[in-house]
Amino acid sequence: MGSSTLTDVPALAVLISGQGSNLQAIQRAIEAGSLPARISLVLSNRADAPGYHWAQQQGLNSQVISHRDFAHREEFDKALAAAIDHSGAQWIVLAGFLRQLTTPFVERYLGRMVNIHPSLLPAFPGLHTHQRALEAGVRWHGATVHFVTPDLDAGPIIAQAILPVQAGESAQALAKRVQALEHQLYPAVLVALLQAQCRLENGQTHWAVGYHSPTLSLVNPELL
Ligand code: GRF
Repeated sequence: MGSSTLTDVPALAVLISGQGSNLQAIQRAIEAGSLPARISLVLSNRADAPGYHWAQQQGLNSQVISHRDFAHREEFDKALAAAIDHSGAQWIVLAGFLRQLTTPFVERYLGRMVNIHPSLLPAFPGLHTHQRALEAGVRWHGATVHFVTPDLDAGPIIAQAILPVQAGESAQALAKRVQALEHQLYPAVLVALLQAQCRLENGQTHWAVGYHSPTLSLVNPELL
């Protein structure tokens, strides 16, 4: 019987550009024992990202690769891939990473790279999603985790977390409520992926027999 070592646990590379609250939620789930994984690398494209400083304080292996140091997107993406592969990461977790990735990079990690987006895709791809949701007058809003494909915010959906928009709510208040759901959604999806409950197959999210998207359990319980 071999004893299990740190390297037996699936390794995640988490890519960030900002606050890193999803990164923190993922690390909390790991520490709580609910997400059987380890973060092998936190990669930030910004040296001033608060999430990067948090990762350093935590002693997580973290690195800044600034897109400004590269003349072309392809070169930047090659540097990202080299750092990811060197860390031994099997899964690439985009958590507020605000750079568009090139098709070769996306294809290199197809089926192993996921993103969280602050809307109920396919509604409101892109930026300023909470303000746009309020302006559109939608009654429901939320967040989506999807496989990353070359088309921005358009990869196959794995799970969503949903909540009702409240009358007169500000975009900031709505963003805060959605983020609280994101922090449950992302670790739950990662558990499903690491346990091979779902995978990307022929351009669609395929659930193994007996498993389904955690979306329903992520509906705000106060609504039920
Ligand atoms: C989240 O709202 C996520 O949906 C979007 O970027 C934001 C990142 O927030 N992709 P944080 O850096 O995890 O706090």
